[in-house]
Amino acid sequence: MPADFEKQSYWRERFKSETSFEWLASSESFMTLIAPHLSEISRRETQPKILHLGSGTSDLQNHFRANGYLDVTNVDYEPLAIERGRQLEEATFGEVRLKYVVADVTQLGSGLRSDQRFDIVIDKSTVDAVSCGGTTTILRMASGIRKYLAEGGIWISLSYSSTRFDVEDLPFDVEVIAKILTPKLKESEPEVYHHCYLLRPK
Ligand SMILES: C[S@@+](CC[C@H](N)C(=O)[O-])C[C@H]1O[C@@H](n2cnc3c(N)ncnc32)[C@H](O)[C@@H]1O
Repeated sequence: MPADFEKQSYWRERFKSETSFEWLASSESFMTLIAPHLSEISRRETQPKILHLGSGTSDLQNHFRANGYLDVTNVDYEPLAIERGRQLEEATFGEVRLKYVVADVTQLGSGLRSDQRFDIVIDKSTVDAVSCGGTTTILRMASGIRKYLAEGGIWISLSYSSTRFDVEDLPFDVEVIAKILTPKLKESEPEVYHHCYLLRPK
């Protein structure tokens, strides 16, 4: 990713015209990947608390809602993304029921109440944008997530990178739960995969 992807000004400019876009995977296919983990958590909590980081102009929140998950907090540091998210939900359901918060995922404490806890934290390529700021910013994001996870909570992250979490002192155990083959333009091109990670607090 170009270095500007961690800058809010890049996203602000982009969201002035972009109203809907999916990074790395459609929300349908991403939901299929995370479905077993959502079901597992739903056995413990009737209404799991979901924290969706870097929601952008994705319609993932609509898929949570359509599947009956109503305790969803969507976070993005760009107010235009939050506006787009609300618009996408309203366009589909006629009203907004989910939560939308303008906050920096590397400083979660500035946007979330300190007593909030989440059963599942989701980021779909947000960590890729954050990684453009270097390892320290990934660690800031990770320690914030760690703090806001409920007992037994997990973080699921979709990234284009096979080494995204090769980060020293990461407070999580990391497992790859799926590799998604990306479409090739030419048969001779090498196979490239996106990686879906499951992270559990150490
Ligand atoms: C690569 S896009 C992914 C958007 C969406 N998750 C998707 O799958 O289409 C990264 C998103 O993360 C947001 N973002 C990047 N850095 C952030 C930060 N430090 N705090 C909050 N949001 C951030 C951007 O505004 C953008 O919406």
